[in-house]
Amino acid sequence: MRTRVGIIGAGPAGLFLSHLLHLAGIESVVLERRDRVYCEQRQRAGIVEHGVAEALTAAGVGERMEREGFRHDGIDLRFDGASHRIDLAALTGRSVRLYPQTEIVRDLIARRTDDSGQLFFEAEATAIDGIETDRPRIRFTHEGEEQVLECDYVVACDGFHGIGRASLPSDVIRTFEKVYPFGWLGILADVAPSCDELIYAHHPNGFALHSMRSESVSRLYLQVPNGTDAADWSDEQIWDELSTRFALRDGGWELRRGPITDKSVTPMRSFVTEPMRHGRLFLAGDAAHIVPPTGAKGLNLAMNDVMVLAEALVADQTRGDSGLLDAYSDTALRRVWRAMHFSYWMTTLLHAQPGDDAFDARLRLSHLRHITDSPAAATHLAQNYTGIPRI
Ligand code: FAD
Ligand code: DHB
Repeated sequence: MRTRVGIIGAGPAGLFLSHLLHLAGIESVVLERRDRVYCEQRQRAGIVEHGVAEALTAAGVGERMEREGFRHDGIDLRFDGASHRIDLAALTGRSVRLYPQTEIVRDLIARRTDDSGQLFFEAEATAIDGIETDRPRIRFTHEGEEQVLECDYVVACDGFHGIGRASLPSDVIRTFEKVYPFGWLGILADVAPSCDELIYAHHPNGFALHSMRSESVSRLYLQVPNGTDAADWSDEQIWDELSTRFALRDGGWELRRGPITDKSVTPMRSFVTEPMRHGRLFLAGDAAHIVPPTGAKGLNLAMNDVMVLAEALVADQTRGDSGLLDAYSDTALRRVWRAMHFSYWMTTLLHAQPGDDAFDARLRLSHLRHITDSPAAATHLAQNYTGIPRI
């Protein structure tokens, strides 16, 4: 089999890249090791930055997001028993969309399928050969057979555990990593959200986040120590702890409870690979970098990578101009490091750190108060949260 751009992974990055290339008349093949149902149901992110939402709409795949997603103009920073609204729209002129990653993936798969795109499920890439030649190849297994996909370029959008990053020679890459001593216990519950906008709560017991998936489904997260098994927490314990962390001093707010339909623990890590390209192999999305989820940046970074890469591949393939491709890694990494810092900053701001003493706790509260009291500090948060337009 032969194509121009061979893409590994049908997550949001791989699917959006193949759609953007298709719009420019460039053929690609997407190989995905899981089946379609699995890809469409994998619970992950919920917040779409302003610029990513605009890009989805401009590419003709934002129609359902516009209709069924929710525009959020603010977030609630809750600490010391009080609510403080950060007015994203007033501070930046920009907002975010609440539209789950599962729905973005569903929309993109439907569109690639309608456009007769070459998207193979249950096709696992096993090796990438010849990345330093002008004929790189992906070896993969599909329907029990070993096959080879010959390409002009290979793009690994195969997530943190994929083969893309591992295929870069170890002497050309550098990695940077930070592992946090806590994770998030995330639940999905069949109950109407108890708020209209997301609540990011800091409490001496730890962080909690109230998000949502629809008018009748809530998504909530609790900071838990590393090594926690979701089964260690009964449903009642989870609701009790969430209620404690979200409680207002004046008692003027109550968390609605309902049946929990999904429960899982996500570890927290910051990780960057440099460069994001070697020869004819490019990395995009989680294949190249991971952020802790506190700033809602993982999905957005993945989409931004492929927006930059699609433009560069189009310039190369249609005009023979390889300048943007040569700049891809540096261009993408500028945004990646901004998001690394913001996600780290939000994480350390909002989580209780093991070993914190009373001094650390006071500093954190002072920092939180500064963000809610100072328009300059609030604007820093709002600009990064909604996504910096050009970086
Ligand atoms: P992925 O979505 O990981 O897609 C990679 C795809 O490649 C997968 O479909 C995988 O099956 C496929 N693949 C892997 N190896 C191969 C192979 N050898 N051959 C073929 N296919 C392969 N971000 C947030 O902002 N907020 C959140 O709440 C949040 N929660 C998360 C929870 C979890 C458990 C995880 C893992 C991530 C979460 N993220 C969150 C991060 C966000 O979901 C990711 O940043 C986003 O999915 C990145 O998209 P991607 O396309 O780069 O990678
Ligand atoms: C969601 C996850 C996040 O990490 C975040 O910051 C906001 C929302 C979510 O899953 O809805």
